[in-house]
Amino acid sequence: MLTIQSNVSLKSYNTFGIDVSTRYLVEVDNDQDIQTLFQLPDIQSLPKLILGGGSNLLLTQDFNGLVIKINIKGIETVKEDQNHVWLRVGAGENWHEFVMYCVERGLGGIENLSLIPGTVGAAPMQNIGAYGVEIKDTFDRLEAVDISTGIKRVFTNADCRFGYRDSVFKNEVKGQYIISNVQFRLDKNPVLHLSYGDIQKTLEQMSVKELTIKAISEAVIKIRRSKLPDPAEIGNAGSFFKNPEIPASQYEILKSEYPDIPGYVINEEIVKVPAGWLIEQCGWKGKRFGTIGVHTRQALVLVNYSGGKGLEIKQLSEKIQASVEERFGIYLHTEVNFV
Ligand code: EPU
Repeated sequence: MLTIQSNVSLKSYNTFGIDVSTRYLVEVDNDQDIQTLFQLPDIQSLPKLILGGGSNLLLTQDFNGLVIKINIKGIETVKEDQNHVWLRVGAGENWHEFVMYCVERGLGGIENLSLIPGTVGAAPMQNIGAYGVEIKDTFDRLEAVDISTGIKRVFTNADCRFGYRDSVFKNEVKGQYIISNVQFRLDKNPVLHLSYGDIQKTLEQMSVKELTIKAISEAVIKIRRSKLPDPAEIGNAGSFFKNPEIPASQYEILKSEYPDIPGYVINEEIVKVPAGWLIEQCGWKGKRFGTIGVHTRQALVLVNYSGGKGLEIKQLSEKIQASVEERFGIYLHTEVNFV
């Protein structure tokens, strides 16, 4: 049964812990709920906000519309061959719990993505990634409901047009679909991804005897716990900005001025620079302004200590963008979505 609630606080629905309200809120448990919802009169005219774990979101004002919280659960084995298992997962499953499900069964491919907040359905939207792996590497397909017609559509890996923290769902079909489930192809004979510097170092510190996906997952969890704030304790949405990709020529000029500037060569023409480093250089790391601030251990993460307002966080992000642009000539694009 669908229950539409009125005037609900969204504080517990976003990992930043911003206390704004929505005019209406409904939680959907299955595909049928979505179809039923979109047959209700007056639904089409309401502004809608589709929510997974609310972990990549900054709410700057009350929402005068309908929030649709996706609670679709379930993990099902679709098929299996000698080397792979295909799992179909409800969009409302918690991402980290799904990673643990795979790690415990020896199914490789997403262990480097341990402890990322959010839900399975939200993961493809921005092609979540960490420690040298992105979800596009194991993603097979997803099913989504078109919110204007109620018709279900399958998106293959190619259809999603995955890029760095990017997909078709942030661009061409933004706001048009509700993702109801996602299918992954996991490896029975996992290929271990250890190239990201911190992973090797952490595994050595942990004196790991056997390199397994479980060991990698544990190393990732250790690194994340040491650098990133736990949203259950301090409100945040992970990286607030994307790491900028700049022309190699600009990188060379910056390198002559700042010999320590880190950079990852993407191709002959493009270098990716860590936004956290740029922000730290501008003196923002660990700065606190009343109830909000810049995380003490990772300058890429903005935090809400308690009771902070979304607009204040937005203003702080704009000041950071301005100072990085002035000093380095680089514009930082935000990774979080503003509502
Ligand atoms: N750095 C600083 N100061 C800081 C933060 C970072 O100098 O305050 C430097 C580090 O010393 C290092 C480099 O920046 O040389 C990279 O730092 P880190 O390994 O922490 O990764 P990142 O590039 O800052 C990205 C992702 C994270 C992901 C990590 C690990 C983006 C926008 N962020 O951060 O993703 O966990 O790599 O793969 O690409 C997220 O999306 O929410 C997120 C946390």
